[in-house]
Amino acid sequence: MITIEPTGGTLGARVYGVRLADELTETDTHTLRRAWLEHQVLIFPEQHLTVDEQVRATRVFGPIGDDPFFKPVDASEHVVAISRLAHEQAPLFAESWHTDWSFKPVPPAGTLLQAITVPPVGGTTSFANQTAAARQLPTGLRQRLVGAIAQHSAAVAYAPEGMYGDREREADRSMRIRIDVSAREVGRHPVLRPHPETGIEALFGTLGYIAGIDGMATDEAQSLMLEVHNWQTQEEFQYEHCWEPGMVVLWDNRCLLHRANGGFEGHDRLLHRTTVADDPAYYLPRAAA
Ligand code: SIN
Repeated sequence: MITIEPTGGTLGARVYGVRLADELTETDTHTLRRAWLEHQVLIFPEQHLTVDEQVRATRVFGPIGDDPFFKPVDASEHVVAISRLAHEQAPLFAESWHTDWSFKPVPPAGTLLQAITVPPVGGTTSFANQTAAARQLPTGLRQRLVGAIAQHSAAVAYAPEGMYGDREREADRSMRIRIDVSAREVGRHPVLRPHPETGIEALFGTLGYIAGIDGMATDEAQSLMLEVHNWQTQEEFQYEHCWEPGMVVLWDNRCLLHRANGGFEGHDRLLHRTTVADDPAYYLPRAAA
């Protein structure tokens, strides 16, 4: 029987009594989805999934999404290795707050990450609850965000002129990152928006992938987004996750920010990542009432 045990923090629950690689009943699938939407992050200890099993586990939550700027592992076109070797000097991957691929016209619903090699210290992943951040927004800041449409772009990271395009800095990175001019494309989403599936309001995205706001000068947009960033990443909205080998974590990109934490210099760290696509119907233009 599936047991859901909340972490007791602002988000997240541990799930027991299920092996994601097994054939799940409709009731189990429904239970997991309800728990996911409620807790935002689901933690499944002791899964130890092969790459094919991880792909099957991902499909429990929706179709497989694409990862535009990663090259997959050799054994599966859908699985990406988030890797860092003990001697690696390149800056830590994904150390800034972000939500995955938020610049896409239909951003992914979720991300599933499985720990393969866990360092003895550090290497945690932090999440920030954007439903709580939106609910508690100060009135003045809220008023400035209502109706604001953010311009999301991956250029700062994955374009040739972006962070990961710097060959010297990236010389010893073990992760297979794909640099491409398509990273300059812009996708637009409201800063404050209803979660596509639950309708509960959340802040979507943050500085970094958010390059501007429609109708606002760049400086003004950057300073507004800095204010939002400082609000949405406060300690009280955060949960810091510690990994164990074989542990799977599924998070909801539509109402969370996350980032990787360092502190494991001199140790290897390896996780396998898959992406859950969202339903494009959520993003169709609404007919005028
Ligand atoms: C990610 O953003 O997918 C990576 C998170 C991590 O390495 O902890």
